[in-house]
Amino acid sequence: MLLADHDVAQFHELGFVMIEGVFSDGEVRLLRDAFESVSRSDHPANVVEKHTGAIRTAMGLHRRHAVFDRLVRDRRLVEPAVQLIGDQQLYAQQVKVNVKAAEVGEAWQWHYDFATHHHEDGVVLPLALNLHIFLDDVTMDNGPLQFVRGSHLVGAHETFLDTETTSYDLWCVSDEVVQPLADVNGVYTATGAAGSLLIFGDTLLHASPPNTSALDRRIFSLILNPVANASTIDRRHDWQHHREFVPIVASSATSLLL
Ligand code: SIN
Ligand code: MN
Repeated sequence: MLLADHDVAQFHELGFVMIEGVFSDGEVRLLRDAFESVSRSDHPANVVEKHTGAIRTAMGLHRRHAVFDRLVRDRRLVEPAVQLIGDQQLYAQQVKVNVKAAEVGEAWQWHYDFATHHHEDGVVLPLALNLHIFLDDVTMDNGPLQFVRGSHLVGAHETFLDTETTSYDLWCVSDEVVQPLADVNGVYTATGAAGSLLIFGDTLLHASPPNTSALDRRIFSLILNPVANASTIDRRHDWQHHREFVPIVASSATSLLL
């Protein structure tokens, strides 16, 4: 699946692109079921919320369930990534579902992913892409991602390691840095139906508020990075940054349903 020229242009201009209706209802049900099965297992890559113990993120999923192993090779993810990054061999750097359970799902602070990839993993260039598939309808109330439009073009923002706010340590950007840029550029809130595909780059500023609604918000996330730009530090758990620098080959299958 290739992106239309206007989607590629938007990605370069704003730092993200969103396409609705990429995965069918049946595929979304399959992915939810696979996720529910891994989320019930007692595994260190299942991280819970600080205050409630509800599941926040489940990582390393392509190693834990056959459906996610198929998904990381799905052409609807791999082909747009190659199109946006350029003709490079890509490996699966991180494979997870970020949950945000109804009423208790906590925030993700303002950050950009390259800060973590660089500080923690020694990745040199901000080339990775974060590819999301919505497993629930994402609304204004259940913790949608927000992006500062065009913030990927601004250059490196000052960061700090936040080990306090949530149970997941994150290299963050302070509100004092984000707010003036958000005032000038505007903020995009990524709402959409289950089955939507959202792609954003490694230096785009993003955050998401708590889930205040009665609806869960589960989002699958695959980070693809060029093999030539692989991590150089092995400090984090493997499921936070996989060290199998094997190029992903897009599958010829047109559906996740066998
Ligand atoms: C979220 O799931 O709301 C945040 C995801 C991210 O930072 O990539
Ligand atoms: Mn992020």
